[in-house]
This record gives sequence, structure tokens and C-alpha cells, in this order.
Amino acid sequence: RPVDDPARPGHDLVVVANRLPVDSRTLPDGATEWVTSPGGLVTAMESVMRTVDSGAWVGWAGSPGQEPDPFDADGMSLYPVRLDQEDIERYYEGFSNATLWPLYHDVIVDPEFHRTWWDSYVAANRRFARTAAPVANEGGTIWVHDYQLQLVPRLIREERADVRIGFFNHIPFPSVELFSQLPKRNQMLRGLLGADLIGFQRESDTQNFLAAVRKLLGYHVDGQTISVPGLGAAPVREVVAQTFPISIDSSKVSALTEDEEVRARAEQLREDLGHPRTIVLGVDRLDYTKGIRHRLKAWGELLGDGSVDPRETVMVQVATPSRERVEAYRQLRDEVELTVGRINGDHSSIGRPAVSYQHRSFDRRDMTALFMAADVVLVTALRDGMNLVAKEYVASRPDLHGVLVLSEFAGAADELRAAVMVNPHDIDELKAAILRAMAMPAEEQEEAMRSLRHQVMENDVQAWAHSFLQRLEHSGAEVREPKPT
Ligand code: ADP
Ligand code: G6P
Repeated sequence: RPVDDPARPGHDLVVVANRLPVDSRTLPDGATEWVTSPGGLVTAMESVMRTVDSGAWVGWAGSPGQEPDPFDADGMSLYPVRLDQEDIERYYEGFSNATLWPLYHDVIVDPEFHRTWWDSYVAANRRFARTAAPVANEGGTIWVHDYQLQLVPRLIREERADVRIGFFNHIPFPSVELFSQLPKRNQMLRGLLGADLIGFQRESDTQNFLAAVRKLLGYHVDGQTISVPGLGAAPVREVVAQTFPISIDSSKVSALTEDEEVRARAEQLREDLGHPRTIVLGVDRLDYTKGIRHRLKAWGELLGDGSVDPRETVMVQVATPSRERVEAYRQLRDEVELTVGRINGDHSSIGRPAVSYQHRSFDRRDMTALFMAADVVLVTALRDGMNLVAKEYVASRPDLHGVLVLSEFAGAADELRAAVMVNPHDIDELKAAILRAMAMPAEEQEEAMRSLRHQVMENDVQAWAHSFLQRLEHSGAEVREPKPT
């Protein structure tokens, strides 16, 4: 059902995510400012939606209690969903980011379970579904994103039998043993199975999901296809779970490196850091899944045992503020900042930090300049759905210089085989990997970077979206006879 307002016709493609691509901020004078929202989901989907005609995006505007009227930005229509302070505490900070996030990232910190958080998760998912359902054209496509909205596919299906529904999980899907800890786990699976196509980052995520469906719901699974019993006399539906590794707008990132101003910024950065021989870079949301503590421990030891000379080498750690009211994130920030302070106290000279720590956001041009200046980038995630930073670094190096150190626990490790692979839990291995990267001869760097670039430039986010949407278009078969389970 398209919206009734003729000024706002329905849309053929509707994206539903917890966040809109832009966050509203209220300035001291009361005016509203819109800034790009944090995280890989927005980075990826924003590039996709820029290429879509008549697309819509349903999501939260990032502040409590705000529900501005739908508006157009960058060629798409944005439909804000209101979250009140209590929704933010229980649905967003609580169930999404203190229950699901740690559970789905292999319990790096303990997930908390609270029934009030679940109630709020259900209510918020209903609100997103209610906003999204009428926005799609007859026979259109609704594409739901990520762990905050796992009930939305089924809720939309209950209202709109005519639309195709896709779901993509940007974060890992845990093993069935861990997933089984989740109270309401079966409701969660049934919520997801409202979709026609469910996409995951890594093959292991897809297999974990299929195993959960088989074991916990007892549904018949044939390869990637799940037979979902209909209600009453309704036919059985076929739902497909498949792997679609997400990517970046590779050519756009690569093209930015040709921009004279960006090049000048990269040079300026090196100068500002005192012309070190080696710049080692980390870029992450300040999240415990990213392995920032492990990285700093390794770096501190390398400085301490004299393997790295702070007069020749600088580590730049960019840490985007994230989920700052959630306890585990506060603790992480305190620990990271204490460690950075200690390392700098022990190893910096005046005007020359051993770790240049930046707790803020950078715009895309500055981020590209940082990647261009970095001789080594460290991606040491303990668990990560994909990690777009790894791909952005590769796309930023058409000069074929620079070394990527990549955790085997990041989804990107399945594709970026030519990186220096590391198990970040093994601090000795991590130290050795950093030293190897710093000492890698130019020809070896070029060979590895050429192979990495081939992967990243050929498989960009447009190709990812295209293959997901193509698959979605051919899914959704209905079968009369229920297959035996
Ligand atoms: P996640 O989605 O968990 O945050 P990803 O690595 O997949 O992790 O995506 C992070 C995205 O956010 C990347 O596009 C990266 O460039 C961007 N980003 C990370 N830190 C910053 C920062 N301080 N300023 C601007 N962008 C950032
Ligand atoms: C990751 C998640 C996204 C989330 C982003 C930023 O990329 O997969 O769903 O939007 O982090 O986190 P935030 O909690 O600030 O939205």
C-alpha cells in the first residue's frame, strides 16, 4: 500500500535499519544539524542507495523523542522512526547492544538478559515495521538490516503479503550452542524467517543460522533452503539463507586518492607527526570487539623491549566514540585511554607521541588521507562481521604500498587472503606480525597489495547489493505440501 499522500509516492526499494544514514544533532542555538551516522552498515548502504532511483530509508534519527516528518536527502526519502529515552535504554542500549551484540560476537563480554529489554525490543521492532510497511509500492522490495531488527521481517509479512522481504545481518551469527543461550531464541528465528532471503557475511554465519533453524525449530533444511510451515492452511514457504560478503564503494575510495587536496593532507599528516619512518594506523569504532586493547598491549611491549624505536615510528589510533552509555563501552574507553597514557608517558618525547590517539570522527577525505599516509594498518578484531576498514585501506593504496595486518576473526579474512593474517589473542604472534609488516620489502608489499586490490576493486558494494537483490527477486517460492521435518 503506497502512502496516500500523492506528494510522497511509494517506493520500489525500502531499506529499514535502526539508524538513518544521518544523525540529527541539536546545536546550542536550537538549530538542527545532520551528520553522517557511524558504522559500516551506513557506509555501505549509503553508497548503494545513492545509485537507486526512488529509494526510501526507514530508521531512527539518533536522538531521543525525535520524529521529524519524512524528508528527502541525497536522492532518497528518509522516514524517521521515534525512539523515546526508555526505548533507547531498553531496546537500543539494552537488548540490542548489551544482549545481542556481545552474544553474537562470541561473548567477548557477558551478555545481559532482562525481560523488560525484550519487551521493548518487540515494541520497537513493531514501530519500525509499522512505519516501513506502507512505504513500499505494490510488489516492491523491503530490505531489513541487522541485529536490532530481527523481528521486523515477520511483522512486515503479516501486513504485506505482496512485497519481497530481504534481511541482511551485518554482524556474525553465533554457533547454535551460544545462540541457544538467548531467551526468546525461537521468536527471533521466526522473526527472521518472515524474510524470503536472509543474507550473512561469512559462510560460517550462514551455516550457524541453518543449524539453529534445524535444531531449535526442527524445520526441514535442504542446502540453503528452509521450508517454513505456513499458518493453518497456508502453504509452506521457502526461505533461502545465503552468504553475501559486504564491501565498499571501492572505485570512489580509490578515486579520492587522486584528489590533490587529499594528497596534500596525507603529506601534511606525515609532517605533523614529525616525519616518522613508519606510521602504523588503527581505525575503529571504540568497541571491545575490535581488539584495541590487544593491539595496544602488543605495541607497548614492542616499545618496551626495544623492537620498535619511538623516534622512528608512530602509532595513530583513531577511535570513533560509540554507545557511550553502555557499561562495557565506558570501561573499554577508560582502559584504552589509561593504556595510551601509560605508553606515551613511558615512550614519547616532547612533541612526538608514541601513540597519537584520536577519539573522534573524521570525514571521508581525512580518513582517506590517513590511509594514504599509513605504512601499516592493524585490524585486530576479536570478532567482526566483515570490517570495512580493511577494505578501505586496500582501496586507498593504488600506489601498491602499505601492509594490512588482518585478524582471522574478521569476516574480511575469508577474502583478503594476501594480508598478514594474525590471531590477535596471541600477543607474541601479533607482535611478530607487526614487526614483519613494518619490515616488509617494497616488492613483497606490492605483490600482496596487488592481490588484495584485485579482490576489493572487483567486488564492490554495488556488486554486493546487486547480487543480494537479484537473488531476492528469484526467491519466495511457495510450496503446497509441507515437507517432512
Ligand atoms: P563497524 O561497522 O563495526 O563500525 P567497519 O570497519 O565495518 O566496522 O565499518 C566502520 C566504518 O566507519 C568504516 O567505513 C570506517 O571508515 C568508518 N570509521 C571508523 N572510525 C571512524 C572515524 N573515527 N571517523 C570516521 N569514520 C570512521
Ligand atoms: C555496526 C552495526 C550497525 C551499527 C553500527 C554503529 O556497524 O552493524 O548496525 O549501526 O555498528 O553502531 P550504533 O550503535 O552507533 O548504530
